[in-house]
Amino acid sequence: LARQDLAGERILVTAGPTLEEIDPVRFVSNHSSGKMGYAIARAARRRGAEVVLVAGPTCLDDPWGIETVHVCSAAEMRDAVMARVAASTVIVKAAAVADYRPKSRSAGKIKKSADALVLELEKNPDILSELGGVKGDRVLVGFAAETCELVENARKKLAGKNLDMVVANDIGQPGAGFHVDTNIAKLLYRDGRVEELSLMGKDEMAAIILDRAAELRKLGMRG
Ligand code: PMT
Repeated sequence: LARQDLAGERILVTAGPTLEEIDPVRFVSNHSSGKMGYAIARAARRRGAEVVLVAGPTCLDDPWGIETVHVCSAAEMRDAVMARVAASTVIVKAAAVADYRPKSRSAGKIKKSADALVLELEKNPDILSELGGVKGDRVLVGFAAETCELVENARKKLAGKNLDMVVANDIGQPGAGFHVDTNIAKLLYRDGRVEELSLMGKDEMAAIILDRAAELRKLGMRG
């Protein structure tokens, strides 16, 4: 049995992509498989936490003993997350939430026409920013999926969204990011520290992310 060091914690985890519909047939989405977020949810459950997993469409089975809320769009994910913030003590946002969605969703399948199909996209709600605004003494962990300027971009998110920690991963690096069972990341903290996590399994990285979140939680409770 894993050490029950997270007993008493209520951890809200998001995972997977969001899917933004164009018409009843087509959508825009991304390559997230959900593996990173599901690994965090499973590890938290093993260590005694009460876990809610809000997941976009993935091919993964619902993890045992975890309330899994399935959503499709960023707007649905936002509603599911915001409805559960009050009950949470730790929030880990591993989901790949689409920044944009089609401005209008066609009720009928858009018929092929000779010229190009032009899609106008509009901004989705930024769930992590909204969480940062109501954080309170919760531990708020965000992710940053970048292809360049990893630390600079992650640092901007850390400060801009009132995060306690950001897991920055370069999704262009072999062995990191979408779909693979491994990841490579840098953990950035409010106090400026940067912790390098070399190539490791997503379960192993999930354990470290939770170790650090638990430490931040203890610090926060000491005030
Ligand atoms: O799912 P896997 O295949 O295992 O891949 C794992 C992963 C690469 C998806 C994961 O490690 C990861 O990087 N997740 C974050 C992906 C992402 O959306 O990063 P971002 O830099 O675009 O977003 C930054 C943060 O803001 C994220 O915590 C995201 O959940 C959040 N966000 C983003 C947009 C939005 N509208 N609302 C948000 O809350």
